[in-house]
Formats: sequence, C-alpha cells, structure tokens
Amino acid sequence: MAIRKLRYNDDPILRKRAREITEINDRIKTLASDMLETMYHDEGVGLAAPQVGILRRLIVIDVGQGPITMINPVIVSQKGSIVDIEGCLSFPDDGGYVERPEYVTAQYTDLEGRHCEVKGHMLLARAICHEIDHLNGEVFIDKKIPNEEAQKMIPKQNERLAREQNKTVHSSESGRDEVTSEAYEAPADLQEVAVIEEGTDHE
Ligand code: CO
Repeated sequence: MAIRKLRYNDDPILRKRAREITEINDRIKTLASDMLETMYHDEGVGLAAPQVGILRRLIVIDVGQGPITMINPVIVSQKGSIVDIEGCLSFPDDGGYVERPEYVTAQYTDLEGRHCEVKGHMLLARAICHEIDHLNGEVFIDKKIPNEEAQKMIPKQNERLAREQNKTVHSSESGRDEVTSEAYEAPADLQEVAVIEEGTDHE
C-alpha cells in the first residue's frame, strides 16, 4: 500500500471522464487499496481514481461504517433532496453547500467481481453522488449553492426532517405526529450492501 499524490484545483484531469474498468487485475486492486490509504491519510470520506491521476471508474468511500470499493458504479435510483455542506480532498480550501438526493441506490462491481448494490442515506448518499460525479469530470464547486441561499433553505429542511423522524419514531406508539422543539438529530446513516450476483471468471 502507498499513499498516492492527489490532484488539486484546476488540474485538467479532474474535468475528464474516466473509462470503464473491464478487468479487475492486480493494478486495479493495488490502486483501490492505495486510494483507501490516501483517503484515510487525508481524513476524507471518499475518493475517486481521477483524484490520484487515474482516469478509471473506481471510487472508495468510508463514512465511518467501513470501506466500500466500487468499480464502474452507477446510480439506479434516488429520492428526496438535502442541502448540506460538502468538501473535497482535491479542493482543500473550498467547501460549500450542495443539493444532493437524500437516498441513493447504486450498483457496482466489487474487487471480487461480484455485482453489488448499496443503499445510502444522507452522508453516504452524498458521498456516492460526489464520487460518481468525479468519474464524469464533474466537481462539486460547480454545483455549490450560495451560502445566503442555503441558509434560507436549511431551517425548512430541518423542520421537515424533524417531522419525518418524529413520524417514524412515534407513529407506532401514539399514532400522532408530534413535532418536538428538540434540536433535530440526523438519523444514523444507512449503509446496506448486498451482493446481487456472484462474480464470473471472465470479469
Ligand atoms: Co471530491
């Protein structure tokens, strides 16, 4: 394992589309483990291969529930929308609000060649979208919502989330929708990974 050199800011590779991976060989496996090491070293929650200068469709994510390595990831469904702060290891001096789906389901191939599916909620959904964008040469700084605008959207969003959470928590007990005045606490991020199909030798 080795820490790879990151690409930053206006490096043109960050704006290029990455190519599909057709063979999971030792180079891809080494790249994946190096990317995880690089991501942990820089305390990120996700990293895409173009960020270490490799234009292949490979991303790694760890939102605190263990690493996920995704080859040729594709979003198959998404739901809702959340505005929240986002950052990127390739833009260390830049952060900002970005609108992303609240729920995302993505399919991908894992390092063993199995066809897998992951369901992400909140931060994991955000990370999946952010990293797949990198594979398409898209960077979050182009999607930022101005701070003043985001500040206006967030109280309403938090009210809605509190309401939804309250429904989930209390509907079975009292059958009523009570919104408490307590501060909204984000639900735990969902990380559900499933193997859809075992790998085949030609992959
Ligand atoms: Co990024």
